[in-house]
Amino acid sequence: MNGKITVFGAGNVGGAVTRRLIERKLCKTVVLVDRSPEKAQGVALDILEASPVDLLEPVCVSGEDIEQTRDSEIVIITAGATRKEGMSRDELLKINAAIVAECVSKSSKYSPYAFYIVVSNPLNVMCHVAMRAGQLPRTRVAGMAGILDSCRFQYFISKELGVSVENVQAMVLGEHGEDMVPVPRYSTVAGIPVTELLDEQKLAGLIGRTRDGGAEIIRLMHTSAYYAPASAVVQMVAAVVMNKKKILPCASYLSGEYGICGAFVGVPVKLGANGVEEVVEISLTDGERQALHASADKIKAQLALLGETC
Ligand code: 2OP
Repeated sequence: MNGKITVFGAGNVGGAVTRRLIERKLCKTVVLVDRSPEKAQGVALDILEASPVDLLEPVCVSGEDIEQTRDSEIVIITAGATRKEGMSRDELLKINAAIVAECVSKSSKYSPYAFYIVVSNPLNVMCHVAMRAGQLPRTRVAGMAGILDSCRFQYFISKELGVSVENVQAMVLGEHGEDMVPVPRYSTVAGIPVTELLDEQKLAGLIGRTRDGGAEIIRLMHTSAYYAPASAVVQMVAAVVMNKKKILPCASYLSGEYGICGAFVGVPVKLGANGVEEVVEISLTDGERQALHASADKIKAQLALLGETC
């Protein structure tokens, strides 16, 4: 591994991801690319100027020229418009599909073996756009969303119960949107099913807040979240570059798993040096399965708006 990572999009998420990758020493070089080269230069310079204090190797460069991204091992797509207050992720569909397609079709010519992590919204559809634009095998593209949604669910559970977040495991599947599927049955506190520690009403409240997690942040700070999304991206990068074979909830292309075909849906996957090494099929109740299929149908309807066939 040459340790080269490209980040498309020098906005809040792209900047936070770049910084975290360097802090965690997960890369030798980060190439930060943006439609505004000056913006990429500014973010990279700001990060580099912290290196004497942070004693971090100055490994980030801004990519004015796509040539600088050559032979990246991982390409992270954060480029695109972000939601404003009251907007749904769906309203970003056409704008961001064009931006994501442009980034991936360009970068795939210079980095033909890269693993793609998609962050741009609406996430599940943008993964599909990336796969098509780069003609990528499904093992080499995944969407960051399930980890973010699960982190929010974990945090809310920990606060409700007054326990360490380290004790809490939570799982959120499906769409990164209102139709996401939090799965309390697979969420635990120190191994104890959360359904034994919280009554249905409390759980429903935490699930509702998880669904609304992104919008809540926008209402408070009038821009999309970026610290938690960046941490979630970096967890995926670590699993790949360190070949952790870690099972994480990510948007992955399903070809019949869970009875779903032809869409990127948030499910548990094994991430390692070869990317999405396995889609992990867990047993679901009829209700959970129905919710997952409804989520997938929502994603397919968005795809149809783009003229994408599943
Ligand atoms: C979120 O849920 C930005 O979609 C991202 O915060």
